[in-house]
Amino acid sequence: MEKIILTGDRPTGRLHIGHYVGSLRRRVELQNSGEYDKIFIMIADAQALTDNADNPEKVRQNILEVAMDYMSAGLDPEKSVLFIQSQVSELTELTFFYQNLVTVQRLQRNPTVKQEMQLRGFSDDNTDNKAGIPVGFFCYPISQASDITAFKATVVPVGEDQEPMLEQTREIVRKFNSTYGETLVEPEIMLPDNAACMRLPGTDGKAKMSKSLGNCIYLSDPAEEVWNKVKGMYTDPLHLQVSDPGHVEGNTVFTYLDAFCKPEHFEKFRDCFIGKKVSFTFNSLDEVKDQYRAGGLGDMMIKKFLNEVLNDTLEPIRQRRHALEQNIPYVYEVLRKGSEIARAAAAETLADVKRAMKINYFDPGVLDQLIAEQSQKYSK
Ligand code: TRP
Repeated sequence: MEKIILTGDRPTGRLHIGHYVGSLRRRVELQNSGEYDKIFIMIADAQALTDNADNPEKVRQNILEVAMDYMSAGLDPEKSVLFIQSQVSELTELTFFYQNLVTVQRLQRNPTVKQEMQLRGFSDDNTDNKAGIPVGFFCYPISQASDITAFKATVVPVGEDQEPMLEQTREIVRKFNSTYGETLVEPEIMLPDNAACMRLPGTDGKAKMSKSLGNCIYLSDPAEEVWNKVKGMYTDPLHLQVSDPGHVEGNTVFTYLDAFCKPEHFEKFRDCFIGKKVSFTFNSLDEVKDQYRAGGLGDMMIKKFLNEVLNDTLEPIRQRRHALEQNIPYVYEVLRKGSEIARAAAAETLADVKRAMKINYFDPGVLDQLIAEQSQKYSK
């Protein structure tokens, strides 16, 4: 069986370093591993509209931002198909058929959807004046199953918040195959392998980076802005004096270092640990942590180091992004071509689905058979 990847993001904002360590970096590695036959990366504008129906302009603007973030992070249109969800109308058709295989009660149990409803003030309680639940939003896990199955994806690299969507997809696949015959491919989820990357906290230490909380470092942030954000980062509230013993767990600077630091950084950025009063030589992150726990290592030093570590990753991304910003027609051309390729792939699956459901009335050969069958019925 072919090894096929499908994944994507909602274009509701520029991508931040949480996206990078949580999924983007891995996607680039998978792309360059050469182990996959096909890779589809989708900009999920239609899904973004399920809770942004009144703000299509936001979605429209961010399609380009996300596309540029993808390519500057290393996704290569020669190796991965980058496309826009809404341009593949076959996906909505699949969704319409899959909707018959899922109950309202099953959708209501989806923990990610529940959480998002709370976050957005959607409620099924019509005694208060909260907004109701848009039907399209409520059903988006089904549409996500279409995204995944349309491309016969075997592997879906996503963050842990997407686990319920994968579970839903697998259920739909099993239900479809047992009802209509073996047609769809059951996908596997691929989660980030490093605990710090599962969900990178915001710069304020809050559980998640989110645009509305203003605690993100964006891939497109200029170096000065990254430094300002790093300086303001949440560390250990009990680490008041440099000499105090510090805590590493729950300390956002260390969480980011866990996610970004590479062995070569200690040699490359050793100047960060040379101070006016004290200096250190570290060869590993564990040594930095031990010193921080013991006391004597100040927050400013670890923040300077983190800033260097971050920029080591971000600078090449920033440079590629600047080049793309000067070549917008190219970016749209990539998306246009990608959407065409994606559409052809999804059309094949839709044809399989219709064939399995026997609703391919006008396919070659099928009509003749139908006519024969029905004529016979009336030929007495
Ligand atoms: N739900 C994903 C997100 O919020 C985006 C998405 C839509 C997706 N369809 C997908 C991810 C299919 C993986 C596979 O980021």
